[in-house]
Amino acid sequence: MIDTLLLFGATGDLAQRYLFPSLAHLLRDRLLPDDFRIVAIGRTEHDDAGFSAWLRSRVTAAHEQDALDALLRRTRYHALDLNDTQAVGAALADYADRPSVSYLSTPPDLFASTCRGLKTAGLLEPPSRLVLEKPIGHDLASALEIDATLKANLDETRIFRIDHYLGKAPVQNLLALRFGNAMLEAVWHNRWIESVHILVAETTGVDGREDYYAGYGALRDMVQNHMLQLLALIAMEPPGALDADSTRDEKRKVLRALRPMRSCDVDRDSVRGRYQAGVVGGHAVPGFAFTGEVETFVALRAWIDNWRWTGVPFYLVTGKRLATRNTEVVVTFKQVTHWIFDRPQRTQALPNRLSMRLQPRETIELDLMGSLAAPEFGGMELQPLELDLSMSQPQRRIAYERLLLDALGGNQTLFVRDDEVAAAWRWVDSISQAWSQCKSPIEHYPAGSWGPSRAHDFLPQDIDGVS
Ligand code: BG6
Repeated sequence: MIDTLLLFGATGDLAQRYLFPSLAHLLRDRLLPDDFRIVAIGRTEHDDAGFSAWLRSRVTAAHEQDALDALLRRTRYHALDLNDTQAVGAALADYADRPSVSYLSTPPDLFASTCRGLKTAGLLEPPSRLVLEKPIGHDLASALEIDATLKANLDETRIFRIDHYLGKAPVQNLLALRFGNAMLEAVWHNRWIESVHILVAETTGVDGREDYYAGYGALRDMVQNHMLQLLALIAMEPPGALDADSTRDEKRKVLRALRPMRSCDVDRDSVRGRYQAGVVGGHAVPGFAFTGEVETFVALRAWIDNWRWTGVPFYLVTGKRLATRNTEVVVTFKQVTHWIFDRPQRTQALPNRLSMRLQPRETIELDLMGSLAAPEFGGMELQPLELDLSMSQPQRRIAYERLLLDALGGNQTLFVRDDEVAAAWRWVDSISQAWSQCKSPIEHYPAGSWGPSRAHDFLPQDIDGVS
């Protein structure tokens, strides 16, 4: 395992909230190499002691402090302008004495210059690796441009593109459920599946990330990466093995089979929204004040044009400041082909439905029809039954803990490959182009609701508060 981590963007939001706490947990649990060291790079001027004091003041949970202190004793801080390739090269060259992992948790417009600086410093020589935080670019063209710079400096086997959803245990469980059970795979296609809903509902707002968000919106911030990765895991063919290329080959095929959106599809297949002031969890919250064309909510009906999924709509819905936090995949099955019961009438029978909730609690539910009510007296009446697999909730690690370990250990299975990123952008670009051709309006919704009313048809049934 590589024992030097260079962390760019060390004073950013992600580093404070997730990366340093994840590293502190890994160190506390003795999962990092003995000589592990961190080189933290940020824009703000600090010396080592100043950076440590600043980070300690941000990570306030008392139980985290000891682990954080141990980590900070292994941390050196450098303030650098990442646009200045020569300065980056000169400041960091001393760390080229050992192989390293450089983690770019910075805006994507700094990826290329940072990569060149690392090359100058000798920090990209094999087996050193590069980790990139999403978003990789703003559209396909910028993603390809970034990729060209990366490839000029190191090969794909040493590039690790993070999508932190892949580091979440419940997301990995989707693979386990699909490919560890004969039963699901037997009905996992358009002959038996009516529709698939993928919902990522957040109660948090854009809060403090307005500048970034104004340039991206929900489509680029959430759909291009997290939601399409979930879709790919649900829809992919069974890989021959669980290694990096086998799984990524299959995900890429799904992403490439997504039908591009045309301007004539926009009204029927998409809704864009933006939250206004409202009440979330009993607290009044302001609206998203930015005036430009940016959505905080998106609902899409997607089609995968391949043998398995033709005719099955995939509904993708994500938004900020919604009624509850809920990440869920709901698979609705077709009705049985021939109905033999009087009660209820066929039209009243509910379809089978498999709901896999990933956040905030992990649950798996299967809705069935059955008759538990005294059929021995001849009165057969079917009613909805629920098979509930809510597990005792295990203590889950932060998604980044697993991904950091994998990057240091060199396992790319849970990282996104170049061709997946390109296929996802190609589809997302078709949507943003269709939106701009149609001048698709952004509909307002009150914070604490389920998005614009027109989006309700895109939501799974039985979401709290939506009929
Ligand atoms: C990030 C997005 O990638 O994922 C955020 O930039 C979003 O806008 C976050 O809030 C959601 O992640 P999680 O793990 O809280 O579901």
